[in-house]
Amino acid sequence: MLLIGLFLRRITILLIQSLTVCVAEQSELICSHQPIVALAGDDVILPCYLDPPISASSETVEWTRPGLDPKYIHFHQDGQPVYHSQNPSYYLRTRLFEAELQNGNVSMKIFRVKISDAGKYFCFLESMLKEASIQLTVGKSDFLKMMNYTFLLTAKISNVTLY
Ligand SMILES: *[C@@H]1O[C@H](CO)[C@@H](O)[C@H](O)[C@H]1NC(C)=O
Ligand SMILES: *[C@@H]1O[C@H](CO)[C@@H](O)[C@H](O)[C@H]1NC(C)=O
Ligand SMILES: *[C@@H]1O[C@H](CO)[C@@H](O)[C@H](O)[C@H]1NC(C)=O
Repeated sequence: MLLIGLFLRRITILLIQSLTVCVAEQSELICSHQPIVALAGDDVILPCYLDPPISASSETVEWTRPGLDPKYIHFHQDGQPVYHSQNPSYYLRTRLFEAELQNGNVSMKIFRVKISDAGKYFCFLESMLKEASIQLTVGKSDFLKMMNYTFLLTAKISNVTLY
């Protein structure tokens, strides 16, 4: 009796495990293919999510930039950020959206982006073996303002009504 009970439990556990693996295998980790463009000083979100959505609440979510040392931009484990492995230049400048993790949304927000933040970011879900990358472009705000001014000026000269 006891043996059969144990056996059944083992089977159930195996079934649940393989189901979880199956579901995880069907989902893709998708990050925006378009580069994310921001101005220095802006807050920016790097969008990444599992599609079809499955919960990433219990996942270790790693955001990295391979050229950096330490490479971790944001390390999220057991539902909270882990700071000791994080690159110091991102200290207190990143967050995930905890409430969104259960929808498979592992997007990362970076506060007050710097010119040096520009580059390729990787999102990695280790236990699911999922990885995707996203490009962040950061413009100098003065430069963009000047470009904008030039654009408006040119538009006026060529007599285009903008508004
Ligand atoms: C993920 O969460 C962020 C922040 O709430 C939101 O802006 C974004 O639209 C969400 N993405 C998806 C695919 O739900
Ligand atoms: C460009 O100019 C428009 C209109 O003056 C303004 O609303 C917008 O914020 C400007 N953009 C930048 C990046 O400075
Ligand atoms: C500029 O636009 C206005 C109104 O649309 C028009 O009356 C005028 O003739 C235009 N001037 C030139 C130089 O095209």
